Amino acid sequence: MEKIKIAIAKGRLAKYSISLLEEIGINCNVLKEDNRKLVFHLPENNLEVILLKAQDVPTYVEHGVVDMGIVGKDTLMEMERQLYEVLDLKFGKCKFSVAGRLMEGNGKKHLRVATKYPNVAKKYFAEKGQSVEIIRQEGSVELAPIMGLTDVIVDIVETGRTLKENGLVILEDIADLSARLVLNKVSFKTKKKEITAIIDLIGEKVG
Ligand code: PRP
Repeated sequence: MEKIKIAIAKGRLAKYSISLLEEIGINCNVLKEDNRKLVFHLPENNLEVILLKAQDVPTYVEHGVVDMGIVGKDTLMEMERQLYEVLDLKFGKCKFSVAGRLMEGNGKKHLRVATKYPNVAKKYFAEKGQSVEIIRQEGSVELAPIMGLTDVIVDIVETGRTLKENGLVILEDIADLSARLVLNKVSFKTKKKEITAIIDLIGEKVG
């Protein structure tokens, strides 16, 4: 049996990802300890789990440093890495939307757009034939239209609460998002048996 290495995105998706691994019979107690470790050995299951920033998960999977990863579709769309996206894990559901003040931006020839996802935003507006200037932000994107930095934002909407509490509305929806299981292309060939066993178990759980 070959050891399988799995990368999990830290943050919002981590606890759901760990629960999913537990549901398929993996003892994840070491992953739930309150410490700053980033690499976890699970010898009982012949696994190694690493915790990464979401944006780094596709990079590690593409390079084959890990065999598989659990990461949001938002990150996959932004990073466009060469890997196999094999399962929709159905948690972390949210959507990419364009948001702004009501009516603002409508009909403008050139839109200024704030986002943490410049590639997604660029592609979306290019397909619509809309001329844009993308202004990249690292967080609190909602501030940009409020403060007059941009006309609109492209961001993740989960409950819609952040928009509402900041006086913004959804203007257009771009795509539905959720967590995905991704694979390194070479690992899928060289460790097919072990990887397929994990995919089948997870597939049964998520339906
Ligand atoms: C995300 C996103 C929105 C918010 C949406 O931000 O950028 O701000 O969550 O969630 P809601 O629709 O349920 O309100 P995150 O919490 O990741 O923080 P950040 O702005 O620091 O990136």
